[in-house]
Amino acid sequence: MNEETKQEEAARKEGVLEYFHYRGSLERAREVLRLFQAAKKAASIYPPHHEMCLHAFGEFMQGFHDFLARRDSFSLQVVGDEFFFEGRLMARESVLYYPLIREFQEKEVGGLNISGGLEAQEFTDFLYLLNRSAEELRARGGLKRLMEAAGIASITIDDPGTWKEKPPESVERATAREEYYEAVNVIRELADQVVSDRRLSTGKANRMVGVMLNRVGENRSAVLGLATIKSYDEYTSFHSVNVLILSLALGSMLPLDRSALMILGTGALLHDLGKITIPQGVLTKTGPLTAQEWEMMRDHPARGADILLAQPGVHPLSVMVAYEHHARYDLTGYPRIGGKKLPGLFSRIVQVCDVYDAMTTTRPYQRARTPDQAMRVLVKEMGATFDPLLVKVFIDMMGVYPVGTLVRLVTGETAVVYEAVGDDAAWPRVKVIRDAAGGEIEPRIMDLARLAEKVGEGGRAILESLHPEDAGINPQDYL
Ligand SMILES: [Fe+2]
Repeated sequence: MNEETKQEEAARKEGVLEYFHYRGSLERAREVLRLFQAAKKAASIYPPHHEMCLHAFGEFMQGFHDFLARRDSFSLQVVGDEFFFEGRLMARESVLYYPLIREFQEKEVGGLNISGGLEAQEFTDFLYLLNRSAEELRARGGLKRLMEAAGIASITIDDPGTWKEKPPESVERATAREEYYEAVNVIRELADQVVSDRRLSTGKANRMVGVMLNRVGENRSAVLGLATIKSYDEYTSFHSVNVLILSLALGSMLPLDRSALMILGTGALLHDLGKITIPQGVLTKTGPLTAQEWEMMRDHPARGADILLAQPGVHPLSVMVAYEHHARYDLTGYPRIGGKKLPGLFSRIVQVCDVYDAMTTTRPYQRARTPDQAMRVLVKEMGATFDPLLVKVFIDMMGVYPVGTLVRLVTGETAVVYEAVGDDAAWPRVKVIRDAAGGEIEPRIMDLARLAEKVGEGGRAILESLHPEDAGINPQDYL
């Protein structure tokens, strides 16, 4: 190993270590927040010397002490309706502790900083101040002033709106990916809850849809890249999140307002909820289904709609999405829909996204199609299975070679489509990962549009798409 390679190797190792160090800190920050929430709750019910409080406060102090093994202080930022830790979104906590975020907003807490010198008494005093009503705090000059008056020095709060800068792109991408996995967690929990007690936390579902909708609004292309994450083993949860992302992205290309997109998103996220009534063996069966199994399959839209109808707070149009998502544009699918010429608009949107994601995922009974192959199927089925206009908008949105497609360039190099640029879908930004001889290279991003006019003189253009399994490359590793 020469000197340069050794240095590179060391740098790589350090990068990995730093990453794990960071992950560890994030996990502990999550724990600190959880313990904070528990202590705050105990303080809202019991007096400071009650054993419930002593226990909860002690747990917090211990958790905070563990956290200090990696950091000097703990700080949490409130940005919009979300919690951030060191510039990274805490997507799961933003959903779980939403009432706490609201309370922070009402009480003008834009961020919370706790330094290493924290003493138990200070923490207790702070909690009881924080638990006063927003009106009382305002009447007495605000939380900040009361904290100063009480001599609380190890805890400080930021003014509202202190944290609003956009994080850098690399952080944004990493955050978006974390959000994706959190969304998978949430849908998993929602489904478990419905299985165990037939109750659905619609608040949790709505907040998750809201988080994704914000991301789609900020950077549609980056979010679409996330929808290429698949899971062979846990198809339904990942599929639900992908259909949510695709549907919100497609819906946001149409003249729909935020509340309409929320209803669409909820329907998209929960469209397959009825599948919880079907045994796993039937869902993953490779051979032909028996008549009885097929009957079960055909029933999942109605079952899902039944479950959703029984939940307070689910919009009827979201229920309709679950009911109609297999009805097809020409109404020849299932269940039979009477009395109308077309399935509802939201159902038609979810239909396109549902089938697209299903086709591009490897399942026990099928090999995944490449994104451009799947796109061709959509085109072929325009007017029969799919709303032709929506397919056109979908192609406009995804491009000829959607983000995450593995492609060969005319130069023989292999690349992953990284980002759509401007309106010209044929010339996206790609990440080149293999040279013409198939050798692995340090990935580098290339703007095909800039090179478009040079094609034929050594410029790059996409020749064809490749199947990830044939190439032995997982495009996700490069997004
Ligand atoms: Fe379905």
